[in-house]
This record gives sequence, C-alpha cells and structure tokens, in this order.
Amino acid sequence: MSIQQENRFQAIIAHAKEYGFVFPSSEIYDGLSAVYDYGPYGSELKKNIRDHWWKSMTQLNDNIVGIDAAIFMHPTTWKASGHVDNFSDPMIDNRDSKKRYRVDHLLEAHADKLAHEGRKEEEFALLKSMDDLLAKDDFTGLKQLIEDNKITCAISGTSNWTDIRQFNLMFKTEFGAIASDNPNDNVVYLRPETAQGIFVNFLNVQKTARMKVPFGIAQTGKAFRNEIVARQFIFRMREFEQMEMQFFVRPGTEREWYKHWKQQRLNWHLDLGTPTEKYRFHDHVKLAHYAKEACDIEYEFPIGFKEVEGIHSRSDFDLSQHQLYSKKKQQYFDNDIDEKTGKPYGNYIPYVIETSIGLDRMFLLVLSQAYDEETITKDDGATDTRVVMRIPVKLAPNKLAILPLVKKDGLPELARKLMDECKPHFRCFYEEKDAIGKRYRRQDAIGTPFCVTVDHQTKEDGTVTLRERDSMTQKRVPLSEIKNQILNLL
Ligand code: GAP
Repeated sequence: MSIQQENRFQAIIAHAKEYGFVFPSSEIYDGLSAVYDYGPYGSELKKNIRDHWWKSMTQLNDNIVGIDAAIFMHPTTWKASGHVDNFSDPMIDNRDSKKRYRVDHLLEAHADKLAHEGRKEEEFALLKSMDDLLAKDDFTGLKQLIEDNKITCAISGTSNWTDIRQFNLMFKTEFGAIASDNPNDNVVYLRPETAQGIFVNFLNVQKTARMKVPFGIAQTGKAFRNEIVARQFIFRMREFEQMEMQFFVRPGTEREWYKHWKQQRLNWHLDLGTPTEKYRFHDHVKLAHYAKEACDIEYEFPIGFKEVEGIHSRSDFDLSQHQLYSKKKQQYFDNDIDEKTGKPYGNYIPYVIETSIGLDRMFLLVLSQAYDEETITKDDGATDTRVVMRIPVKLAPNKLAILPLVKKDGLPELARKLMDECKPHFRCFYEEKDAIGKRYRRQDAIGTPFCVTVDHQTKEDGTVTLRERDSMTQKRVPLSEIKNQILNLL
C-alpha cells in the first residue's frame, strides 16, 4: 500500500469514528480485536445496504424467497458441511515475535511490495507459485517460497519461521447446562457462514413456498470466524454479517447459472454508480472444499483490490452431505419433461450456485467509494477543504436535513412542520444550532444528499432553499413541493 493509500484508509477510519459510523467494540476497555460496533449513521447505512440487497434478491426475483435461520445449529451440520475438518487456513509463526501470519497474506503482501517496486514479472511469478502450492496443499513448498523470497516478520524483522500448520477458524461454545463426562457432548459452533441454515431448510422452504427448481433462498445474518490475521478495520472481522443466496438448479445447468449470477451480481454493484474499473473478477485456482468453480468480485479498496463477494458453484455437495449425515432424503421431484427422454426429470439432488457478500465489507466499499476531500475555491480566491461522503442516495443514512436559518422569527415552527410532513416517508434530520455553512458541512460529512433551509423569504413567498450535496447547487423550491420532489429524487 502506498503512503497516499494508507493515509486515505486511515482518514476513512477516523472519519467513520468521528461521525458515528463505526466504533471499535467496547472501546472504553481498549476494544476487542477485529470486532466493531456501528453508530447512529453506520447502523442506518448498514440497514439500507441490507435492505437494498434483500429487495434486489427477493422482491425483484420472483423465484427467490428469504429465510431467517438461527445462529446455533446442530453440531453435526458442521461435520457434514466439512467445516469441522476443512475450515482452516495454513498459518506460519515467527519464533522471535510470536506473531502468527496467514501464509497467503504474507506472500501477497510481499507480492504487493514487488509490484510497487515495478518488479511486475517477479510479482506475477510469486503469485503463480503461491496459487499452485496452495492448490496442492504443499506446505513444505510454501515455506520454501517464503524463505526463497527472504520474507521477514514485520515486527521482529527476522525470518525465523516455524513450519506451516492448519488452524480451524470456527468459534466453539457450550450449549445448555447438562453435565457430561465428555466435554464434546455440549459443543456447538457459532456459524462461520449463513449458507448452512439455508441448506438444512431446503425442503422446508421448497415445500411451504411451493418453489420449483430453479429457485433461490436468501438470508442475511451474523457469521463468526476466529480470523488469525484480523486487521484492516472492518475488512476482516471476527464477528460479521453475510448476505447469501443459494440458487438450486437442475444438474447439468450449473455452468450457465454460474455465469448468470456472476454477471447479475456485478451488475448489482455497478448499478450503485461505482465505476467499472473499480471492480474485477478473480477466478479461483484453489477451490474451497465444496466448490466446483468459484470467483470473487474484487473492488479496489484503499488497501488494494480485495474480495467483496464470492460466487461459488457448489454442486450437490452440501445437500448430499446433509442427506448422508441426517439420513433424511434431500431430493427434489422435477416433473418437467426432459426433451431427450420424453419423461419427467424425476428425483435428484439439485446443484447450487451461491452468491455470498459480506455486509460489513460492502459497507467499507461504500465508505471507500464515497469519501472525498474536495478543495473548494471561495469568492475571495482562498481555498478550503470539504469532506463529503458521496453515498448513493438510496443508501444514505439521512435523505433530507431540514435547517431553519435562525432559531427565531417563526422559522423553527415552519421547519418542524415540514419535518412532520416528510418523516413518515423518508429519514429526515432537523438541526437549528450553528451557522448554516457549518451545518451544511456536517451533513456533507455524513452523506445527506439534500438540505432544505427555511429562511425569512419562506415567510414571504413560501419557498425554501434546496441544496444538493455533491454539486452544492442551491435552488428555490416551494415548501409545499419539497416532500414530493425528494420522493421523486429517491
Ligand atoms: N458461504 C460461502 C462463504 O462464506 P466466503 O468467501 O468465505 O464464502 C463470503 O465469504 C463473503 O463473506 C466474503 O466475500 C466477504 O465479503 C465476507 N467475509 C468473509 N470473511 C469475512 C470476515 N472475516 N470479515 C468480514 N467479512 C468477511
């Protein structure tokens, strides 16, 4: 990461805290690593992103329905899904600093360094070797690659590395208060993904909502991972939220559905107005234990291009595993006629295409894309910097700020009346303290797209000033038209 990028990232983190978007968790006790709380504007923005995703997936696709499964699940779920045995990352420790690193992150950081030094070919070769070795789980080869590249620990500065080992990322806890001699009897896991809550409910949903393949089940909710390398603000958290959709398809059609969802999900991102060049696909070489084909949608964060969403072709792996472990059939009867045989497709376990996006990561994407330090030239030629969050209107925490110019002369009463008229329809903010310029800047900093100022002229001709956040243009609009104008703009 360049100094400029690092500074921008730090500025976004500081801004998020100062303006009530994101706070470190339990900060009065010095925080808890990789756990964060969302403040008044953050929780609103997060909810708006979640609602926007939910609406795009369920309301706008009549073959996708939603569920809300519990976080706790029967522990066999995680045995069946492969998470007990396979949900681990290769790690390496530095003996001098005692610091633990994820092997791929250590190598990627070195590759970034090579890229910054203009050593593009070496960067490419390193990443290729890493992908090949990871795909083969060749830990000896990976350690050799670290040593050959003379990669050192950022804290101790030494290359005194341990061997590479796997660490499981699931959090365990105990369920109920039943005394048992076997400590494993009461173990439950905090779910590391929301997807399994969908799989175990596949038939419940298919039958009760009378769904026909192809159809999808969507869910949003918390997931937990004991990430070893947990830094970079809300990019990698130990408690986070996912928005996942499992799309059940007829076997043999999975490739076309995979391509369909890859494009659909990229379109969803682009529809928010983010330029195309800020996104790219990264097709996986090393596939997760369940995947047949997979890619990430990457966004160019201030910390570089990183995954924001995954699209995975999961075959019938999950449903087959649940059928095996639960001994309950997970088949679907397809009575459509197969043109080749002239008979119904009959019973099968559907294949699955998954779209999985981190809500917190999407939140960071929105902050990163929105944050702007704009230089303004004033009438006298002097310059000033305005920090403005150019958050897409549909996601902005507040849609309209209503500001009486002064706290007297009947202006607050007029402004309050407008507030009462508008607040049932969209989120408004009322403020009468401080000079108007200062109040505009505060709204810019939290991303409010529109401000209305009620002034003395309002009393004379019934008009108010409507100010637009991004362009800062102002126009006079009849007070009576504000609600409908904002509704139209939303
Ligand atoms: N069900 C598939 C699954 O969980 P994943 O690639 O491990 O796939 C999906 O995670 C998405 O969840 C990622 O693209 C990312 O946006 C988000 N995510 C994963 N781990 C995260 C973490 N530790 N902190 C924040 N978001 C995370």
